[in-house]
Amino acid sequence: MKMVTCRSPRKMLPVLFTFFISALYAQKNRIIAIETQHNAIALQVGEDLRVATVYFGTKLKDTSEYKLVHQMYRRGDDYSGILNAAYTPAGSRNLVEPAIEVTHANGNTSLDLQYVSHSIDKTDANVSVTSVQLRDPAYALEVTLFFKVFYREDVVEQWAVIRNKEKGSITMQKFASANLYLTAGNYWLKQFHGDWAKEMQPEETQLTHGIKVLDSKLGTRAHLYQPPAFIVSLDKPATEDEGKVLLGQLEWSGNFKIDLEVDPLNNLRLIAGINPFASEYVLKPNQQFETPAFVFTFSDKGIGEASRRLHRWARNYKLYDGNGSRMTLLNNWESTFFNFNETVLADLIKDTKKLGVDVFLLDDGWFGNKYPRNDDKAGLGDWQENVQKLPHGIGYLVKEAQNNGVKFGIWVEPEMVNPKSELYFKHPEWVIKQPNREEHLFRNQLVLDLSNPKVQDFVFGILDNLFTKNPDLAFIKWDCNAVIYNAYSSFLNKQSQLYVDYVKGLYKVLDRVRAKYRKVQMMLCSGGGGRVDYGALKYFNEFWLSDNTDPFERIFIQYEYSYFYPAISHSNHVTDWGKQPLKYRTDVAMMGKLGFDIVVNKLPPQDLKFAQQAVKTYDSIKNVIWHGDLFRLADPHENPFASVIYVNEAQDRAVMFNYLTGNRYGNGTLSPIKLKGLNADKKYTVREINLYPGTPSPLRSNTVYSGDYLMTAGFNPDVNARRMSVILEVAEAR
Ligand code: GLA
Repeated sequence: MKMVTCRSPRKMLPVLFTFFISALYAQKNRIIAIETQHNAIALQVGEDLRVATVYFGTKLKDTSEYKLVHQMYRRGDDYSGILNAAYTPAGSRNLVEPAIEVTHANGNTSLDLQYVSHSIDKTDANVSVTSVQLRDPAYALEVTLFFKVFYREDVVEQWAVIRNKEKGSITMQKFASANLYLTAGNYWLKQFHGDWAKEMQPEETQLTHGIKVLDSKLGTRAHLYQPPAFIVSLDKPATEDEGKVLLGQLEWSGNFKIDLEVDPLNNLRLIAGINPFASEYVLKPNQQFETPAFVFTFSDKGIGEASRRLHRWARNYKLYDGNGSRMTLLNNWESTFFNFNETVLADLIKDTKKLGVDVFLLDDGWFGNKYPRNDDKAGLGDWQENVQKLPHGIGYLVKEAQNNGVKFGIWVEPEMVNPKSELYFKHPEWVIKQPNREEHLFRNQLVLDLSNPKVQDFVFGILDNLFTKNPDLAFIKWDCNAVIYNAYSSFLNKQSQLYVDYVKGLYKVLDRVRAKYRKVQMMLCSGGGGRVDYGALKYFNEFWLSDNTDPFERIFIQYEYSYFYPAISHSNHVTDWGKQPLKYRTDVAMMGKLGFDIVVNKLPPQDLKFAQQAVKTYDSIKNVIWHGDLFRLADPHENPFASVIYVNEAQDRAVMFNYLTGNRYGNGTLSPIKLKGLNADKKYTVREINLYPGTPSPLRSNTVYSGDYLMTAGFNPDVNARRMSVILEVAEAR
């Protein structure tokens, strides 16, 4: 339903006002149900016009029954009456963590929010946006809560728009995106932490009363220590196939804060948004602020189903070209580091062809003349080809690639500057650093001030120049290797807006890049996975999970990322990290989007033959991996092996990956692993693929199994110390 807004001539005002007030009172006790295919959030407009969350979880058949639910709880008194506020204001009667905190134009710090209206806008049969408008009865400040519902995927994106209608400026101290309210016996948080080469280390704990905070204050490479993605289980830790579980993340590539507060009534208040740390934000009269979205999904059937829902949503609606295709590649980072020239690269381009992959990706080290980029100490900011290494420019290499029937891609790190660069001397005012303090570098570099539109133009220009000169450039690896120290912008008047305006500036640049260069495929990298979130992935086809490509470590890292991000977005490279044979390394990389970063011409003949065949095998199964549903079958944290399966929508093809992860004598798959996601009534064959040349498979491939058998009795891939990785193709028997 849509409420009337007053835009009529003056004399009509009293009549309309009376109508408005009576319409408003008719809304009391009204339920606003935000429903997906299986789940619901029910908001209720209270007697006092405050909007509260009265239900969160599995959808009820009868919407009118949502209002009955909370009457059944006897958990004590809520003194404030707004513990379950749909968006908790600070400074009035609230006693707990707020979602929003402001200082009004007159210096007053209280805020109250009451219902004004709500509406539902249907985009199409699957997508709709419910918006709930709130207003402070004492101050001209409005907040609209948005709930974008992806019905089939069971996903909701929630954000808020805060509007200043006061006569003077207001200051926002906190401006969260979402304020959920969950009810259960107890709550379990699975969070992730990490560092360079150690991304996505999981930890699961029971939430106790008080507040647990997940946050980042790192600025750019904000997710280096902690990503904004997490899992909350209700009543007990959810497993892959059981339990009530919420998967959520803030779509924001900067500082974030997730408050998880178990309140006095033993309910969970979950507030997610931009980190208020050092980020006061001013709104002038008539200005509004739109928060980033918090995206979440809920399942009462375990983490597996929740992550499949998130994957489907990402592929259909968020990840750049999520349902499209990707390119396999050869990268030169680990094989040359900064040490290359045109001849070396021309040879690598030939190797790209020899290997059979789609793109040659030239990494760091191709630019800078006065301060050549021969190591990571100089050159960032000077995006002209180094004339010694590349006398004929990038154009020559793009042509070389074309002559060899492959595509060409290039690495950039456009947000950064080395003090040893021409840019640094030319535009010191573009660099984020404190005027009166010693510089503090991260990887010998500083961050450019993307809150400044001139810097945005410069960064866009780096990409634009590359594409203008080389229209056939097919792939970009966009890196970001430094955090923000000494946060200070010589452009901004209000320093506390830097962290937020930086990210907004970054998105403005990426919007411009994507508006002009739609087809180019882009990899999101941040010295590994230092910046992975759906705010950024809207612009990127894939992301670099970690610089750690030791396949053994990588199984764990990929496994954890897979809770939130579909395989098509995982850039996995075969490198020389780790002690495992090439087959193991390749099998692990095949679990996502395959790439290589090895010295092809040094591969022994059998290894080369294997790698070439592996690329062909990958081509034949990649559609199932990229577009199919993921089912995790064996968790390497709980077993000395890992196993996952991707199943296509028609359930007539699946690919199962199995790896040995334990080192002890006799480790392996001693029992069959139960497959998932197949059609119980269909018949399938199971065939081992990607075998190393000359190695026969002990598995019989001519037996026909029912889906029921494979999912109930299971199949043993026979993983052991002699067969450390096994890929199985499961195909419907016709
Ligand atoms: C980061 C990236 C690497 C590589 C180097 C280049 O560490 O994660 O993949 O591109 O930068 O300097």
